Amino acid sequence: MEQQKENNQVKSFKIALIGDTGVGKTSIFLKYHKNTFNGNHITTVSIDFEVKNVKYNNNNYSIKIFDTAGQERFKSMITPYFHMADGFFVVFDLTNKNSLDSVSHWIELINDKKKDSKFIILGNKDDLENNKLKDNEINDVLNKIENYNNKLFYKVSAKDGKNLTEVFNKMLELLDNKNIIEEDNKSFGLKKTGKKQKISNNKKCC
Ligand code: GTP
Ligand code: MG
Repeated sequence: MEQQKENNQVKSFKIALIGDTGVGKTSIFLKYHKNTFNGNHITTVSIDFEVKNVKYNNNNYSIKIFDTAGQERFKSMITPYFHMADGFFVVFDLTNKNSLDSVSHWIELINDKKKDSKFIILGNKDDLENNKLKDNEINDVLNKIENYNNKLFYKVSAKDGKNLTEVFNKMLELLDNKNIIEEDNKSFGLKKTGKKQKISNNKKCC
């Protein structure tokens, strides 16, 4: 049998998690990166990032994942970084209508900073059984969003990990079609995976 040729190139993408406070951005970030879940809400201040190396469809990817603060008071601090993300997960809480209503606002903020940005909408906390928004309620809101494509909405759970690998892979497919510059392993200059770093107010990132 003919063996598939190993692709040694590493493609590098920056992906940001955005959305209202408490929707579970940090929880998604930690579950995907470290396979951990913590029931506490320790609100994110500014932006954290991690680098994760992923193999998907015989390609090597290095994903720089940004976890951003959702609280209103940090918006002016995080939006200046939006221009450098290649793709966004816009997250809402499946038990919180306000967070769903905010999705269009977050997409406007992205579009202000970056034309034709790629985004996937995530309804998080799908493991919860009570007080979940009905599908028709969700569709009514999302269908009003410009350029919304219902193939780019997923229900996920940071608690049990539902759909997280799938949505990150989906994002890689979306971004890979954009023909973003490829780099080989040697010239690839990102910091080591697993080292969590915080971007403080006055430090430059990326
Ligand atoms: P900010 O940093 O303030 O913007 O919030 P965030 O979006 O990062 O929320 P965070 O990840 O801190 O989660 C908020 C709360 O929701 C925490 O108590 C989490 O444990 C809980 N939570 C997050 N994801 C899930 C999930 O998938 N299921 C359940 N049941 N709880 C979740
Ligand atoms: Mg957070």
